[in-house]
Amino acid sequence: MEERIRLFRPAFGEAEKKALCDTIDSMWVGRGPQSIAFEERFAEYVGVKHAVALNSATAALHLGLVCAEVEGQEVLTSSLTWVSSTESILLAGGRPVFCDVEADTLNIDVEDMERKITPTTRAIVVTHYGGQACDMDPILELARAHGLTVIEDAAHACGGLYKGKSLGSLGDIGCFSFQATKNMTTGDGGMMVTNDEAIATRVRKLRWCGITKPTWERFRPGQINRSWVYEVEEVGYKYEMTDLAAALGLAQMDRLEQNNERRRELMAGYREAFADVPEVQPLAARDYALSSCYNAVIRVEGRDELYAHLDADGIDSNVHFYPNHLLKIFRPYTTRLPVTEEVWEQILSVPLHPLLTDVEQRRVVASIRSFVQGAQGSSTQAVAG
Ligand SMILES: Cc1ncc(COP(=O)(O)O)c(C=O)c1O
Repeated sequence: MEERIRLFRPAFGEAEKKALCDTIDSMWVGRGPQSIAFEERFAEYVGVKHAVALNSATAALHLGLVCAEVEGQEVLTSSLTWVSSTESILLAGGRPVFCDVEADTLNIDVEDMERKITPTTRAIVVTHYGGQACDMDPILELARAHGLTVIEDAAHACGGLYKGKSLGSLGDIGCFSFQATKNMTTGDGGMMVTNDEAIATRVRKLRWCGITKPTWERFRPGQINRSWVYEVEEVGYKYEMTDLAAALGLAQMDRLEQNNERRRELMAGYREAFADVPEVQPLAARDYALSSCYNAVIRVEGRDELYAHLDADGIDSNVHFYPNHLLKIFRPYTTRLPVTEEVWEQILSVPLHPLLTDVEQRRVVASIRSFVQGAQGSSTQAVAG
């Protein structure tokens, strides 16, 4: 019996085990020196002044929207994204305005976005779907013209570029995820990046119950007395990253570029394999983007049947994502999104992770090809009958 082929897999090794053990041995597992080192290294990698380590990208999005002061204001976003990306708008008291996507990239449709700007629009949240950049130049131009804050949902985009610049560094705030399936993972975790000192300072307080002096700064060796004295000026949250997670993050950064290279190689393999299969359309690759290739999405008629076919062949697949504007909590904000509503029925993410072997990828391709041939056979029979 062949082993089941997983959709995603974390790429861990001895370095991650050692990082965890060393942190446990240090007896400081909450936020401390590992988190500070991870923030410094991540800021340098993305090319920004500040990186603030958090326990998820959801926390980064929420605090980013709080800093953008969206309460009672409209926030433009796509619907074909992870639900916490749009829930964060509600959490921050904003009103989501759903925009359609480009059918071939699933990134936000800038023209639809422009049509939906009103005097009460305050911010834009753009998801770099699958790690491929949204077209940031026109988005930033619109934002400048209308005084909007741009928040990049870069949850999929560790290592992705737009015209040579790191995703997450182009807007006012970038939000990265280190959740279990992501290009680099700390189990769960996130990072907010920004060049804005005031935002970084506020988020550093908000992530730790609003406290002005974090625990490490108060209790590290050599600190002055009365370390229990601090101030709280604003209600905050419990959103910090732990040093256990940060130690994993530092070890994962060592592998990121190499792993992303393997992801790109596998993605190119899918494109080549389906070049002569018009029924199977991988998402388009834009010239301005170097994708981090978080997921491999194909568009296909009979998506649900293909999912069942792959499952029977021992291959995992999934749909990213159920359109958020169709969910109950977003009913007050729902609207018609013709492209999203058509395309989401056709999309399927197929296995893509750095540990996927060429042999496994050939099995995935063969299973998809056999599905297409079977579907062709049955439609020929239907016509003949
Ligand atoms: C597009 C997108 N945004 C945001 C998130 C939230 O990330 P996290 O799980 O780190 O909160 C995810 C995660 O899974 C995602 O796919």
